[in-house]
Amino acid sequence: MLDTLTISTQRTTAPRLPGIDFAQLEFGKTFADHMLVVDYHDGQWQEPRIVPYADMTVSPANSAIHYGQSIFEGMKAYKNQDGEVALFRPLDNFHRFNASARRMCMPELPEEVFMQGLLQLIRLDSGWVPTDPGSALYIRPFMFATDAMLGVRPSESYRFMVITCPVGLYYAKPLRVRFEEHYVRSAEGGAGAAKNAGNYGAAMYPTKLGQQEGYNQLIWTDASEHKYVEESGTMNAIFIIDGRLVTPALSSSILDGITRRSVLQLARDWGMPVEERKVSALEILEAQRNGTLQEAFGVGTAATIATIATIGYQGEDFELPTPPADAFSRRATAALAAIRKGDAPDPHGWMVRV
Ligand code: COI
Repeated sequence: MLDTLTISTQRTTAPRLPGIDFAQLEFGKTFADHMLVVDYHDGQWQEPRIVPYADMTVSPANSAIHYGQSIFEGMKAYKNQDGEVALFRPLDNFHRFNASARRMCMPELPEEVFMQGLLQLIRLDSGWVPTDPGSALYIRPFMFATDAMLGVRPSESYRFMVITCPVGLYYAKPLRVRFEEHYVRSAEGGAGAAKNAGNYGAAMYPTKLGQQEGYNQLIWTDASEHKYVEESGTMNAIFIIDGRLVTPALSSSILDGITRRSVLQLARDWGMPVEERKVSALEILEAQRNGTLQEAFGVGTAATIATIATIGYQGEDFELPTPPADAFSRRATAALAAIRKGDAPDPHGWMVRV
């Protein structure tokens, strides 16, 4: 990609990188030295700038705080054996970011600002991209309203930013999840397909209740009947039933996950039948009972592929078999890691060099 956009860069005078222990990273707590900032006002995006990572001030009347015009993306950069850094499917994140912006009545970002901002930021902080298996530099692009105004209407000013943090594995062990049949993450026609902050905030209380019962996450069900699987925690849900990959079809209440897309593509590349359709809790439990439920897992940027070991339903726990070495989820995890680390060909052109 051509470096057509010049981004002013103010380097930190107090780099923190030398003091970082990459073996002891808690997800999302350690931030790289720099961040990208681009403001929007008077109907246009202003000059992007890269500055040292630091706190910032906002008005107490900031309308994102009061009314939730706030969206984000999650993506990752990887380092290959030669120390070269590449992003995984960044244009997919860009398009989804602008889809979220449209849903939340926020201005869309020009592709050049998103891509050049990312590339130049990650290049500057490339020393922060870890190399251990399962690790990556997690990248968090986000945009929020900045009007200082309590009237309920779309803000006229916004800030787009990118911050990054080195991360290891998100889940240390297979998950215990349970079907949620009371609370909903999103309804048809809601904003579940957008990556807006409110979706995550509203999920916290029901998730906390599930965690108090000993589950790691919930499997969200549809808002009208509580019968059909929506998502699993902050991830898309995938089941392997009798050699077929079965996953809820996308809708206005389900996020179009980029890891989901990639895993479905791998399954199709490997000649596996892929069914994107409604999948009910009862179908999953019946498959578990009759032994055809081979695997269940969540897929998302943070966790990549998270195995589900136990599914709770109406007070009963159903155990899933431990996936064998040739299980689909294990092969897909290895295949994605190899593409990302440059150890395997990238037939779909998913990696973008920084
Ligand atoms: C992701 O895995 O893509 C997520 O959005 C999870 C994040 C909220 C930590």
